[in-house]
Amino acid sequence: MPILFDAERRVFKLDAKGFTYAMMVYRENYLVHLYAGAPIPDTDLSYLMYRGWFDSLSPLNPQVEDPNFSVDIQPLEYPAGGAGDFRISALSVRGKAGDAVTDIRYVSHKIYQGKPALPGLPATFDREGAAQTLEVETLDAVTGVKATLLYTVFEDYPVIARSARVENTGDSPVNLERVYSACLDLPTMGWDMVHLYGRWAKENTTVRHPLQHGIQAIHSKRGMTGPNHSPFLALADHTATEETGEALGMSLLYSGNFAFDVEVDTRGCPRVLWGINPEEFRWRLEPGEAFQTPEAVLVYSANGLGGMSRTFHHFYLDHLCRSQWAKKKRPLLINSWEAAYFDFDDDKLVEFAKEAKALGIEMLVMDDGWFGNRCDDHRALGDWWVNEEKLKGGLSSLIQRVNDLGVQFGIWYEPEMINPDSDLYRAHPDWAIGVQGREHSLSRHQCVLDMTRQDVRDNIFQQMADVISQNNIAYIKWDCNRHISEAASAQLPPERQGEFFHRYVLGVYDLMDRITTAFPHILLENCSSGGGRFDPGMLYYSPQIWASDCTDPIERLSIQFGASLCYPIASLGAHVSASPRAGLETKGRVALCGTFGYELDPRKLTEEEREMVKAQVADYHKYYDLIHYGDFYRITSPTEDPFLCDWAFVSPDKTEMLFTRVVMRRPPNVYQPLRLPGLDPEKFYTDEDTGKVYSGALLQHGGLDLSSYGRNELSDGDSLVKHFVAR
Ligand code: DGJ
Repeated sequence: MPILFDAERRVFKLDAKGFTYAMMVYRENYLVHLYAGAPIPDTDLSYLMYRGWFDSLSPLNPQVEDPNFSVDIQPLEYPAGGAGDFRISALSVRGKAGDAVTDIRYVSHKIYQGKPALPGLPATFDREGAAQTLEVETLDAVTGVKATLLYTVFEDYPVIARSARVENTGDSPVNLERVYSACLDLPTMGWDMVHLYGRWAKENTTVRHPLQHGIQAIHSKRGMTGPNHSPFLALADHTATEETGEALGMSLLYSGNFAFDVEVDTRGCPRVLWGINPEEFRWRLEPGEAFQTPEAVLVYSANGLGGMSRTFHHFYLDHLCRSQWAKKKRPLLINSWEAAYFDFDDDKLVEFAKEAKALGIEMLVMDDGWFGNRCDDHRALGDWWVNEEKLKGGLSSLIQRVNDLGVQFGIWYEPEMINPDSDLYRAHPDWAIGVQGREHSLSRHQCVLDMTRQDVRDNIFQQMADVISQNNIAYIKWDCNRHISEAASAQLPPERQGEFFHRYVLGVYDLMDRITTAFPHILLENCSSGGGRFDPGMLYYSPQIWASDCTDPIERLSIQFGASLCYPIASLGAHVSASPRAGLETKGRVALCGTFGYELDPRKLTEEEREMVKAQVADYHKYYDLIHYGDFYRITSPTEDPFLCDWAFVSPDKTEMLFTRVVMRRPPNVYQPLRLPGLDPEKFYTDEDTGKVYSGALLQHGGLDLSSYGRNELSDGDSLVKHFVAR
């Protein structure tokens, strides 16, 4: 049984594969956190609730009759604010008396097989019966607010999925002011925070720094996740490397305003909270109403950050990406954006398809510019009817011509947006998000549609469904090119405007759910000015996300390495473009560390380049399973090493490795074999290129001799690959 309740000690013990988590119900029904880490067999863990010294200024509940117990210093499962715990709190409810004191205590629990879906939200799932769930019910006796804490343990992964459901069982309305998805109270601050920051064209840059006393946080309040921070945080012990040491990975299945807050108290005990950003959030619960938080995922790794990432990769492909394309071979595509921008017509696209077909490419994606009078980015968002001046003969005729060449067809949408210069805006100006009496700020000349509204979603769904159902469309790129300002909905009463941002995200999820349910055959790729909404909430609907508008292969290294901390390689949208830095060979190798595709004018390729593209297409097929379903090892980090970037994919049975090196800047001539992780020391591997045989032990401990390649001969932007196969 992965979840045990020791009734005598009132201890809950959750045993995922390679990960133990424990909490207990203490006197007066306080729910106290005990442990999260490496597997342990014991259940008598109650002494773990005492951490550091007692602070004499901390409030005591006399009924507890324990002079060492105070909610201000004990580790708590889901701390609430105002009743003696002065650290950051996960829950804060303002009741009818106007105060925000919240004091939740254990009431009951249940344990059952499987994993519940979360209404209206993306959530991990259990298709194989490999999960068990614990629901712990807690109650604030004064307001009647019930908080049910959900924990799902996955037997096949060191993962626990958590969320909270808050219900108003009282007789008066209450306002939720903070309602995080999870809390983790740890005993020591010997951890580094590892997280991802960025901006447009520079998403997912890894940063690592030690925890400090006080509060440190990663937030979004853009209405979307944004490229600035990812809803992901790892704590790695100070000595942890890619392959050794402990790491705790925390991820949030949410695409809106999020917060990861870490407070290290005076005793050096960190508290981590992650969930919806409480800034600009307030949710009114009428009696009988309930609120479900987004899901938080917690991963434990005893094998460093690399082990943590591999767990996320496999777990998200198996238990989060619900698309039929998650583990089905995806078509190799070419996208029109960087090849043509807005300057295309049906004939040009057919020429692209013809050239692409000759190269072995399987799908043409028509990007922005096919609808309304969209001749540039100033107009037409919201008018999802086909521009027949550009696509003469209409969309069906174009798709037929492309399909006749043996090429599938994909299309671009930006469903959440509206330009003031559009028929939709002229008909429904109130559908754009805005505050009465204030000017709309524009970004890329556009406004955001009020996705909290059913009528808006119905309209966009119908416009999309009309096009999709009448045409042979195999793929959609769902773009989103601005964030939300002047946030308010014309349909929400003043006392509910604090709900706007979360309702917006629920609206987007609803529309994505409707599109993917109505057209399950469609491969959906998310995008937000590049990788601006690269988050696990989106992965639930779309198994791949365009990682960045930066297609420079050297810059892409840090973007893809960073994203790989939490997101599967199979989800990282990566294309070969005409970007001038580095040759076609390196561009192909970098894009192969992602979904792989093209984003260039195929008519402009030289004969030599065409041959190389054909070879890359062959590699895409040859290494598809290894890259999509294998284990990914980051070896030399492009943000840590000034010269080189190295990575490898190893097959699950360890019979195959694909190693890649990219020279960002030619290093000085030094001789240093590179140790390759992940291989079976007992197996013997043949270098496919040279025929030389190595034991896994030699490659792992002695290293691979790259002196005649990288260190001496490869120059800036060059790369090499090595394919090892076990005999
Ligand atoms: C931003 C995306 O990231 C690009 O790939 C492209 O689709 C443009 N939008 C189109 O407007």
